[in-house]
Amino acid sequence: MQKRIIVINGPNLNLLGTRETDVYGTVTLGEIAAVVIDEAQRLGMDADFIQTNHEGDIIDKLHESRGKYDLVILNPGAYTHYSIAIRDAVKAVQLPCIEVHLSNIQAREDFRSRSVIAPVCAGQISGFGANSYILAVRAAALMLAENKGDIES
Ligand code: DQA
Repeated sequence: MQKRIIVINGPNLNLLGTRETDVYGTVTLGEIAAVVIDEAQRLGMDADFIQTNHEGDIIDKLHESRGKYDLVILNPGAYTHYSIAIRDAVKAVQLPCIEVHLSNIQAREDFRSRSVIAPVCAGQISGFGANSYILAVRAAALMLAENKGDIES
């Protein structure tokens, strides 16, 4: 069966392309969505891609993802650093989750270096610009592969 993944983007990511381009680059979220959906298809997965500026909407989407998707890729934006509610939702839904960031959150302000979400995720990809999303899709494909490679076992 075709695997299904959802990419959930949090606050201010709708402004990619014009927002702090020195940090986040000039690629728009729409352009990232198109590449993510293509890469997922190439790897045999269906991807949905959404963005919201609201914490509760992220939580609702996570809840709705149960039974609908096999894995979640999540860029929680600034919620990364303090939303225990999103962390609890990720834990509660028991779906594998990959945290993703365009910027290297370890190399920026101190308050960004801590993710309260990462401990309940399978892993975190941070610092590769828009390519962080592509890497996350590839990680998702490896995690969901029926016949896992030797390297993982
Ligand atoms: C971000 C990093 C966060 O610290 C910031 O608040 C964002 C974007 C990233 O993708 O690099 O909104 O999640």
